[in-house]
This record gives sequence, C-alpha cells and structure tokens, in this order.
Amino acid sequence: MKKIKHFLDLDQINNKELRSIIDLSKSYKQGITSGQDTHKGKTLGLIFEKPSTRTRVSFEIAMYQLGGNVSILEHEKTHLGRGETISDTAKVLSRYLDVIVYRTTTAKKLYELAKYSSIPVINGLNDNTHPCQLVADIMTFEENIGIINNKVVSWCGDFNNVCRSWVQASSILNFDLHIASPKQLINKDEMNKINKIKSIKIFDSAENACKNSDCVMTDTWFSMGQITSEKKRNLLKPFQINNKILSIAKKKSIFMHCLPAHRGEEVEKNILEHPKSVVWDEAENRLHTQKAILNWCLK
Ligand code: CP
Ligand code: NVA
Repeated sequence: MKKIKHFLDLDQINNKELRSIIDLSKSYKQGITSGQDTHKGKTLGLIFEKPSTRTRVSFEIAMYQLGGNVSILEHEKTHLGRGETISDTAKVLSRYLDVIVYRTTTAKKLYELAKYSSIPVINGLNDNTHPCQLVADIMTFEENIGIINNKVVSWCGDFNNVCRSWVQASSILNFDLHIASPKQLINKDEMNKINKIKSIKIFDSAENACKNSDCVMTDTWFSMGQITSEKKRNLLKPFQINNKILSIAKKKSIFMHCLPAHRGEEVEKNILEHPKSVVWDEAENRLHTQKAILNWCLK
C-alpha cells in the first residue's frame, strides 16, 4: 500500500525532503514553476480550532493557484466541534477530500486525525509545534543570508510551539540555534533533551544569545489558548526585542517574527519596521511554501 505523506512535524522528514520543499517554494516565488493546474480536481479541507489569518488564507490561495478547490470547515459548525470523534471525522472526510490542514490544541489530536485519515494531514499549528511556519522562515532566512547550514539563529522569548519547530529544524539542517528564554518556562524533560543537542545553546540573556547572530527571532509571549499572567510577562520582559538587541547581532543580520505581533510586549514598538526586519516577506513566503508542502503531500 502507498504510504500517506502526512506533514506533521519536521522531525519526521529528512534533510533531503525538507530541502526539496524549500527549493520548490523558491521556484514558485521566482515564477520558475507556475504550478498552475498541478492539483486540478483535488480538494483541500481546512479545519481550524484556533484563529488564523496567515495559515488559513495562504493555504486557501495556494490551493486555488495550484488549480484545486478548498473546503473550509468551521470547527464549531461541524460535528467535530460537538463531540463526533476525531477518528470518525477522519474516515468520513477522507472520502470527500484529498488533503487536510488541521490547526488544533494538542499534538495528540493532530496525530489521531492522521492515524485514521487515508489522505495526507498537514499540521497547521498546535500547542506543541508549527512546522509550516518553519519552512517559510527558513526560505526567508536563505533569501537574505544564504544557505542556513552552519549559520546562527537566535530565539528570544517564550519557549513555544514555533521555537520547538526551530529546535527540530536545527538538527535536520545543521545550524546553530541560540535560545534565550527564562529557564522557569522550559519544562525539565525538554530542557534535558535540548541540552543533549550539540547545535543548540540556552542563554540567560538576549544580549548574549544574539551576539554575532545571523538572525534574531521572537514570537508572542502568550500563545493562543494560554492565559495571560503578570508573572510570565515580568519573566519575559528582559527578552524583548529592541534596537539594542538588533544592533548586537551581525551587521548583515535579519529579524523575523511569525506574526501576529504584540507591539510593546515581545517587540519594542517599531521593531517590525526596523531595516533588519523581513517580517512581511516572511508572511508572503507562507504562500509559496504552502504550495510546496501541498505538492509534497499530494505527489
Ligand atoms: N504565523 C501564523 O501562523 O499566523 P496565523 O495564526 O495568522 O495563521
Ligand atoms: N505561538 C503562537 C504562534 C501564532 C502563529 C501561537 O501559538 O499563538
């Protein structure tokens, strides 16, 4: 039987496959590959249990530009939202659709949907990881700095789903990842695992993590579904990205943020407009990379 190509987490794909997805994304952007009609007659289903602007719209437009159709399943208006099991939903949707993007809470729910689907399932973000974002981030890095292998990427702020996907990417693509985050916010088991990865270093200050870095990154201090707290906000304040931090990184470095941003929290007010910021290209690249991810799953 043909193996179903789910795109669930970066630690499930190898360097060659990830590299081919990134390279195809670049070809779509440069117009070398048009992709027109590649997936004519195929339908993508989108299930979002959390809000989304970029992931939802970029997947929708990507599928249309590849000649396919899209079915948006408003979670609360489907039976999945009122108790039909994930396994039954997966079996039924597999009879109508060709590929599903699922944004949910726990990784367990994502993996359950994939387990019972006879069509590819793509992780559109969960509490644990956000691999589609990473493909766009690496593409954006490489457009500006060059091949990511042996370069230095610095993450400052909350240790969250996007950061975990960066952890996975660093082992596959062989670059150094500096993480500056309050130690109290990283669970012990995860800290032990990270400490064993040679390419990753944990720092207790953003300044030290960003010295000689090729890329400075951050994300919201409170991910979707998390309760905001003053305690966590105060712990994270020293890790805010500001002009000083960006000046510590290499002269020819970039600043990225997956967005949405919270100006005045994880970023100083005008950081998205800083000359080193490439956040709008990063957002655009979601469109090109979604096409390559869809293509990888449907090929
Ligand atoms: N970066 C990202 O995934 O954005 P959305 O939540 O808007 O999809
Ligand atoms: N860490 C953020 C990413 C949003 C795209 C969240 O999960 O809300």
